[in-house]
Amino acid sequence: MPPAQIPSLPIVEQRQQLRHHLDICRAKTLMLAESLTEDEYYRQAHPDFSPVGWHLGHIAFTESLWILRHLAGEDCLLVPYHQLFAADGLPKAARQQLPSLAQVLEMLHRVRARVEKYLAIAPLDQQLRLWLWLLQHESQHGETMAIVLALHCQGTMDRPESAVHSTEDDSRPSEVDQNSPHTKQPIYLPPATISLGYDGLDSLDNEQPAHQVLVSGFWLDPHPVTQADFRVFMEVGGYHESAYWSAQGWAWQQAAQVNQPRYWSDEPTWDNHPVCGVSYYEAEAYAAFVGKRLPSEAEWERAACWTTDGRYRGLYPWGDDWPQPPRGNFGGNGGGTTVVGRFASGQAGSELVDLIGNVWEWTASWFDGYAGFRAFPYRGYSKVYFDQQHRVLRGGSWASWPWALRGTLRNWYHPHVREIFSGFRCAQATDS
Ligand code: AVJ
Ligand code: FE
Repeated sequence: MPPAQIPSLPIVEQRQQLRHHLDICRAKTLMLAESLTEDEYYRQAHPDFSPVGWHLGHIAFTESLWILRHLAGEDCLLVPYHQLFAADGLPKAARQQLPSLAQVLEMLHRVRARVEKYLAIAPLDQQLRLWLWLLQHESQHGETMAIVLALHCQGTMDRPESAVHSTEDDSRPSEVDQNSPHTKQPIYLPPATISLGYDGLDSLDNEQPAHQVLVSGFWLDPHPVTQADFRVFMEVGGYHESAYWSAQGWAWQQAAQVNQPRYWSDEPTWDNHPVCGVSYYEAEAYAAFVGKRLPSEAEWERAACWTTDGRYRGLYPWGDDWPQPPRGNFGGNGGGTTVVGRFASGQAGSELVDLIGNVWEWTASWFDGYAGFRAFPYRGYSKVYFDQQHRVLRGGSWASWPWALRGTLRNWYHPHVREIFSGFRCAQATDS
């Protein structure tokens, strides 16, 4: 049963359901931990990202801090590790002096054993929101670990090794010929007053409160920009032509001197994969090059969660069902992106594809609190990033776990960040 429905259950069943989700989420974490090399565990692959081993310790620490200390009123089991594993402890570069993998696994198990004991008596009617937050927290670090692993295996091959050899499950329905160019015409979405955001108990603080927004009519590309699309921009020298770039974007590009997305392959089999690993600035420049723009996050959410006529449809393009294959490419197991339009993940009759999963999509919006925002569970989770320095991404990627994946969920990064599994799709106003 999806976490959103847990509050409606009798408390005994709430505990069972929560336990089930905690178990399967943790199984994914442990699976990822199992296959690590020493280097992947300890080494910082990129200055903006902590080592994988740190993320594992941080997952254990966060669970101990919020469930055992804050909810149960017990001691945080990992007091000696507070400085190392707290989010606001050490700078990222100082996170490589780690306890061994075996020690961190033991911490995860020790904390979880106490947490399970406490869950049996926990007053969930007062606590469920924090428990549901914790599931999403572990999931988000799961995706970040996948990013770090991708950065580790970047050598001569630009696409992550695991992704290149990704074995796609052919039992899944395939909607398109994978080798045919997948460039379809933009879709018109008429003006609609929608409720933006999500107030469910499983929502994150930055999705609340849901509020009415009028979204004007606009055109949206049915799929994220593909490698074949983007190659045109590269081949005409788009990376070296300031006219396509914003002032900030051009300043960044002159310093960064990039000439292709971070995860890129010239193999023709990748032509119909979405561009992956671009900064906001590159997305913005490409959109300008084709005479379009990026959608606002309200436009994006209107497309993902609402029917064309503006009637509410659900948390996902397909309704409220929990994200499961073959709805889209997410969960991390596929090991990389898939050709756009592979999964019929959208609403019936809509040509919009890949809104959920495959790649995160940059939007034009700064990350900010919705009017009436209240921080949960701590200021540093969202509020400190309401600084007009972070852009919103929507929709999740191939590496997003189902607990941290829905049409209302907001991700955010500095506009120069391109190590994440980020792509984009373009929009146009009606009068352009
Ligand atoms: C929403 C993915 C940007 O990883 O910094 C994890 C999520 N916040 N622990 C991040 C998060 C606290 C956050 N992102
Ligand atoms: Fe965290």
